[in-house]
Amino acid sequence: MKIAFFNTKRYEKQAFEEANRDRGHEFLWIDLPLRAGTAPFAQGCAAACVFVNDQADAAAIVALAASGVKLIAARSAGFNHIDLAAARGVGIVVVRVPAYSPYAVAEYTLALMLSLNRHVHRAYNRVREGNFALDGLLGFDMHGRTVGLIGLGKIGACTAKILQGMGCRVIGHDPVSSVTGVTPVALPELLATSDIVSLHCPLTPETRHLIHAESIQQMKRGAMLINTSRGALVDTMAAIEGLKSGQLGSLGIDVYEEEADLFFKDLSETVIQDDVFARLLTFPNVLVTGHQAFFTADALTGIAVTTIGNISEFAATGQCRNAIS
Ligand code: NAI
Repeated sequence: MKIAFFNTKRYEKQAFEEANRDRGHEFLWIDLPLRAGTAPFAQGCAAACVFVNDQADAAAIVALAASGVKLIAARSAGFNHIDLAAARGVGIVVVRVPAYSPYAVAEYTLALMLSLNRHVHRAYNRVREGNFALDGLLGFDMHGRTVGLIGLGKIGACTAKILQGMGCRVIGHDPVSSVTGVTPVALPELLATSDIVSLHCPLTPETRHLIHAESIQQMKRGAMLINTSRGALVDTMAAIEGLKSGQLGSLGIDVYEEEADLFFKDLSETVIQDDVFARLLTFPNVLVTGHQAFFTADALTGIAVTTIGNISEFAATGQCRNAIS
């Protein structure tokens, strides 16, 4: 099958070429994000492979269908960037990678928590300047603290296990899933009792701005908020107000609601135009990274192998076990 890869980086190409070694698919690398205007570059391809910051909205999907695309293969777990109704409308099947390495994201979640708690990001810069003072670097023991996980699926469950190993009390809110040893609680109770709140649910119309001004007010004063899931789960303006008032003690985010125009690119020679994002970077108690929680060699291999497997299955049978209904 001929596959149009949108927005592919060098490190991904290698993993996909390796996964395709015995499969024989033909690749077309399109070094542009998927938009309605770039979709026609997929002309002649039966599949389009997209990542999280591609916008597979209705207009892009109609243009992909007009170019001959029959399958959209998301090389991600999340699929909030794909208009499933529009895909159904033009007969395009959408598949994804439901699980690759939940450990990658869970471990990175811990990296953000621990860095923020112990101010590793500040200490790193200080030491390089010859400043060995400890003022402002005071943290707390994770042992015995309450961590509230919103979403107890694959990543939430892995995160819970790591935290339990550190002696944290882990509570969770999930309408469907549960994890052994994690006390299930309603969302208001989770917000009110957690020293750290960490988000691990998908972005859907229901979870958009799940964390907003009111929910931040419901949190323990000075609590930490971590988001390694999807940016729009958090109302960023509300988080900024929470940080300014001290209600929010610290914020660690690997995702940002307007990240599509920023992340996965080197913008170091340009002026950032997003003032909300720029404001976030001014807080000493905010740690922002550019959607790298998934980024381990193991996860890249897992994503490539499953995506190529999905495409091969669809090519052979017209169906796929990882299709999103
Ligand atoms: P999963 O599907 O295994 O688990 C998601 C859980 O969230 C499910 O148990 C579901 O019942 C729960 N949920 C749904 N709505 C909820 C709500 N309103 N409140 C609480 N829980 C709710 O998904 P997985 O693999 O654990 O991934 C979670 C999210 O992590 C993905 O949707 C994706 O957005 C994000 N992600 C981020 C990555 C990164 O690099 N930063 C990489 C991979 C995933």
